[in-house]
Amino acid sequence: QCKAVILSGGSGTRLWPLSREAYPKQFLALTGDHSLLQETVLRFQALTEADPDITLPPPAVICNEAHRFLVAEQLRELGFAAGEIILEPAGRNTAPALTVAALLSRREGGDPVLAVMPSDHVIRNRRAFCTTLAEAVQLAEQGYLVTFGIVPTRPETGFGYIRVGKPLQGHARLLDSFVEKPDRKTAESYLASGDYLWNSGIFVMRASVWLEAIGRFRPDILAACRQAVENGREDADFFRLDRDAFAACPADSIDYAVMERLSGSDWQGAVLPLDAGWSDLGSWPAMWEVADADTDGNITHGDVFLHEVEDSLVHANDRFVAALGVKDLIVAETADAILVAHKESAQQVRKVAEYLKSQG
Ligand code: GDD
Ligand code: MG
Repeated sequence: QCKAVILSGGSGTRLWPLSREAYPKQFLALTGDHSLLQETVLRFQALTEADPDITLPPPAVICNEAHRFLVAEQLRELGFAAGEIILEPAGRNTAPALTVAALLSRREGGDPVLAVMPSDHVIRNRRAFCTTLAEAVQLAEQGYLVTFGIVPTRPETGFGYIRVGKPLQGHARLLDSFVEKPDRKTAESYLASGDYLWNSGIFVMRASVWLEAIGRFRPDILAACRQAVENGREDADFFRLDRDAFAACPADSIDYAVMERLSGSDWQGAVLPLDAGWSDLGSWPAMWEVADADTDGNITHGDVFLHEVEDSLVHANDRFVAALGVKDLIVAETADAILVAHKESAQQVRKVAEYLKSQG
């Protein structure tokens, strides 16, 4: 048994104006007909092709209550009746989200392997992903907390870094140590050493293993999550966590709360190298990793006209957009806002979201 736990609480403001607080990027179809959330579900369901013996209970999606209808509708489109949608009154980062999903997955007494997946990544090679995931499930059944390592290509400070240890079995290595979001200098030294992989943000472990580990490292989080589940309310479509109990839960990520503390503990981490065209679609420039640019290096979407334009991204959502004689430009148009940015400055787009928030 392997149960998907899909984390869908992020707001993705770095893809503004396409991605909004009310409509974050995981709900957008950025790479094809399906939204990133739907792609995540479909990719996971393909696991039965890699391992026909595996049973897949319906995926659990955990999200902010403001997005409940979006999630329910997108799951319904894939043929899943709503009912495994867990609602957070406010985000408390990924460790509490996983903890409540793990508690709920054990309600009937079982102890499923959980495949914890962000809802906002792109993985181009579904088959390769599922082969690696099937291997991860086997390791998780033996008690490991399994991570997926990506060969780093730049000293990115927005990712976790995994130092790989001894060979374990199959393609797996022991996780030697885990460092979440190192500073630039540290990231550069990790890259140069060749001993580190990026953490993909996907985790596979038994529900009981996670609950024991979080209970040891962050008993405060476990206690608050227990309370939020016990006092929660379930209706036909949603599980609503108790507002006060969950509000009282400290915020922390899976990475800081548990993964960084694994070495030398009672729990063992494993790393599987993932070579499946993984990309964290965190920003506009990342679109070049996931979309095929034309011969001039341009990526376009919607009703667009380009003349003598190079290495630019022009995204037209509602209106016709024309660009002439520009290079390294990002233009994103929606019904009520337009972004024009130099490619190099596109990481700063979160400043726009901050500004808009300050304006109310
Ligand atoms: N339900 C819920 N509630 N989901 C959340 C919350 C929350 O409070 N906060 C974040 N998420 C979701 C996001 O939507 C995303 O899909 C996923 O959890 C990961 O959260 P991010 O906030 O995007 O994490 P990150 O990108 O900074 O770092 C993680 O991913 C990197 C790879 O993309 C870490 O695991 C890093 O170690 C890793 O390298
Ligand atoms: Mg992320």
